[in-house]
Amino acid sequence: MKKRIITLILILAMMFTMAACGKEKEEVNTAYIDRKVGICIYKGTDDFMKLYEAELRKYLISQGFADENIKTVDAKNDQKTQNEQVKKLIEDKVDVLIVNPVNPSNAGTITDMAVDAEIPLIYINREPDKDEQDRWSNNGWKVTYVGCDARQSGKMQGEIVIDLGLDVIDLNKDGKVQYIMVEGDPENIDAQYRTQFSIKAINAQGIFVDCIDDQVGNWETVAAQTIVADDLMAYGDKIEVIFCNNDAMALGAIRAIKAAGRTVGKDVFLVGVDALKEACQAILDGDMTGTVFNDHITQAHSVADCAIKFIEGKRVDNYIACDYVKVTKDNAQEILDLLK
Ligand code: GAL
Repeated sequence: MKKRIITLILILAMMFTMAACGKEKEEVNTAYIDRKVGICIYKGTDDFMKLYEAELRKYLISQGFADENIKTVDAKNDQKTQNEQVKKLIEDKVDVLIVNPVNPSNAGTITDMAVDAEIPLIYINREPDKDEQDRWSNNGWKVTYVGCDARQSGKMQGEIVIDLGLDVIDLNKDGKVQYIMVEGDPENIDAQYRTQFSIKAINAQGIFVDCIDDQVGNWETVAAQTIVADDLMAYGDKIEVIFCNNDAMALGAIRAIKAAGRTVGKDVFLVGVDALKEACQAILDGDMTGTVFNDHITQAHSVADCAIKFIEGKRVDNYIACDYVKVTKDNAQEILDLLK
């Protein structure tokens, strides 16, 4: 009899647990299941934007949006295409528009379309200029920008290099730093600021530099590989530091450095920006000196939080900033763990 009662209690306990589990399953967040979000990406093949979009989608779903109601479009680096895509998303009556502009100087056109249709708009990653941002605040429009200040990333790149000590990086002992710069899209403010502020940070320490070459790699691995390979061939061991405006290009630089038989940390130094997984691993493997974490996780979460505030009719600031983080051998594993 006693045995029977114990068995009965166990069965009841199991049924209770199963019911509780089932209930948990039912409790998937569906708060914004019917709301539509349009995400416009400037170029779908951009390594950093791929990560950003994936995180944004994942986080929106965790906040109660339905995957099928989050529509991402790729402008393939063409502003006209993006304008058409925005128009179409507005016709589809999205509740919020998230735009990574192809050309931030065209933002005015996109803003006007969204404001006319009374759809809140969040710009990401590529910052529209001050005049455009002033329009949003002066008119009380539901438009904002979420992003980092690229000046900070440039400064951090310069600091990573200079923190090694001039005696370490000045390989030819002429008291100056000889470098090459591989730039992203030169129209883009991130590329411009990173190019300027990395060098300013070195000059700020009273150290002079020689720019051996400065070329456009358009944020792309293969383009950067070619530039760095040509420079290593032309200037050989005159190059002490290679600055890349992003990691995708730094990964191309690594290939060129290896092919030229050079060794990072010994006879050349290399820094990037973004903290792609591959770049963090390269730092741990000694193939790269450092990078700067362009925190797409925090940025994506801020974007989704803004979208929710807009949907709920709450006030949203016109500018939402996020900090970059220096990445060297000391914390590359930590950042890599965060990205997994
Ligand atoms: C930068 C990023 C680059 C590239 C670029 C596109 O912030 O570091 O890798 O994605 O944005 O505008």
